[in-house]
Order: sequence, then C-alpha cells, then structure tokens
Amino acid sequence: MSASIIDGKAFAAGLRERIGVLASAFEAAAGRKAGLAVVLVGEDPASQVYVRNKGKQTIACGMESFEHKLPAETSEADLLALVETLNADPAVDGILVQLPLPAHMNEQKVIATINPDKDVDGFHVVNVGRLATGLPGFVPCTPLGCVMLLKDQLGSLSGLDAVVIGRSNIVGKPMAQLLIAESCTVTVAHSRTRDLPDVVRRADIVVAAVGRPEMVKGEWIKPGATVIDVGINRVAGAQEGKSRLVGDVDFASASTVAGAITPVPGGVGPMTIAVLLRNTIVAAHRNAGIALDESAI
Ligand code: GUN
Repeated sequence: MSASIIDGKAFAAGLRERIGVLASAFEAAAGRKAGLAVVLVGEDPASQVYVRNKGKQTIACGMESFEHKLPAETSEADLLALVETLNADPAVDGILVQLPLPAHMNEQKVIATINPDKDVDGFHVVNVGRLATGLPGFVPCTPLGCVMLLKDQLGSLSGLDAVVIGRSNIVGKPMAQLLIAESCTVTVAHSRTRDLPDVVRRADIVVAAVGRPEMVKGEWIKPGATVIDVGINRVAGAQEGKSRLVGDVDFASASTVAGAITPVPGGVGPMTIAVLLRNTIVAAHRNAGIALDESAI
C-alpha cells in the first residue's frame, strides 16, 4: 500500500486565503488593520529566516507587521519594557517573542509578561490552562496546524487511538490536549518510553515531534494509520557539502504502510505561520469586539 500524501503547503495556502478575506473585512469594520508584532533578540540565522517569512506573510494577508529586532546583549528589563509597550498598543493584536532567547534571559518570565489576550503563540500559562480546561484562548500554532490537517484528512477523530511522541511545551503537550478535546484516546511517548515501537503500533494517529531524524520506522506503523511528522532536521545529503531536510519519521518505509502521511518539507512546516496569522486575526476580532465564527476558519 502507498500512503496518501497530506499536502500541508496547499492547505496552508488555502488557510492564508481565507485569512486574507477576513483581514480586509476586519479593516473595513474596525477602521484599522489587524496587527502582529514580532520581537527577535539576537542574530540566530534560523530565527531570522522565520521572522522574515512571518513578516512577509503577515503583509501578504493584509495585516500590519511590526518587527522589533534587538541586539543579543539587550537586557531582560529592556525586553520586558518593550513587551509592556506592545501590550498597551491598540494597533497590536498579537505579540510573538521569537524563541530561543539569549541565555541571560528568563523565557518564562518574558512569556508571562505578554498579555494572554495578545499571546498568539499560546505559550502563556493562562492560555495553557484555558486549553487544558476547554476555555477559549490561544493554542500553539504547530499543534493546532496538525489537528487541522488531521480533521481535513479524517473528518471526525472521535474514538481513535493517538500517540504523540515528544512532550515539549510547544508541541507534544498541547498536541495531546487538542487530541483529548477531539475525543481521541491519547498516549504521550517520550525518551523514557519502554517499548516505543509497540506503543506506536497501536495508534491510528501518530504525531512525531522529537527532533530526531528518521527515528520512527515504517515497521512500527499500524497499516492504514495517519502519520503527522513535525520534525524538521537538517542532515548530510548524498553529495558532499550538501544537506537535506528530513522529518522524525523514516518517510521511505512509513509511506509504504501508513494510510496518509505528511512529507518533510511541505507537510506540517508551512502550517505554523499560517496558523499564527489565523490566531492573529482571531485576536484582532476579540480585541475589537467584532464577532467572528472562529470554527469556520
Ligand atoms: N521558535 C521556533 N518556533 C517558534 C514559535 O512557533 N514561536 C516562537 N515564539 N518562537 C519559535
């Protein structure tokens, strides 16, 4: 059997188109554009690429992009003061502080300073608590994107066995919460899990978010299962000096067993920024008191 390929790139493009329509309607109703502020501290090359892409896509969707680039030696107090300024700015609906931050900063303290109603990353403990208790808030972008792809592929997820490999605050834990909310039976596996192949073999849905290149093998996958690969790992390519991107799943073997699978690149990756823009247009409507059917986005 050969798995269907879940085209996250196409899904993300469709999502951005829907957001663009909502962004112009918002501008007409509110008399201003929805705004996203992105704060980058330091010169991490991968973060610079992410921030550039976020800015471009925010503008392409008809929203305002505010970029704040601070030197690596910025003090924590100065960063906290900037976050407070953005909290108080009515033109800013969403705030994202790019992680990782330089080592001299306390990430939790910085995240805790963001107004939870502008926390479009969904990292603030208030939003973590809202997700866990089923209250409306903001959900981290990558896991929300994974659930959108799963529902698009499978329809209802109710009653399915799901395994999430990885227990990070950014992906694994919120992913598990979202799957519980979709009435899946959820197992969270991690580096201390005793028999990972056996745990994975029981799952109708496998979400791999461990950051280990091609770790999940095809022979672990239940035939017909849906596989969501969150990993983005750069490894040496076939030619010397060249590199290529691979996921946490061994795509060659898994795609012969799975029912559907996300590729890397072009699967989950493009969803993250598209969902960030979704969260921003949602925040804008909530902050301006303009009604929006959030479930239809
Ligand atoms: N660094 C890598 N991914 C992310 C993300 O989704 N949000 C933030 N704030 N930083 C990141």
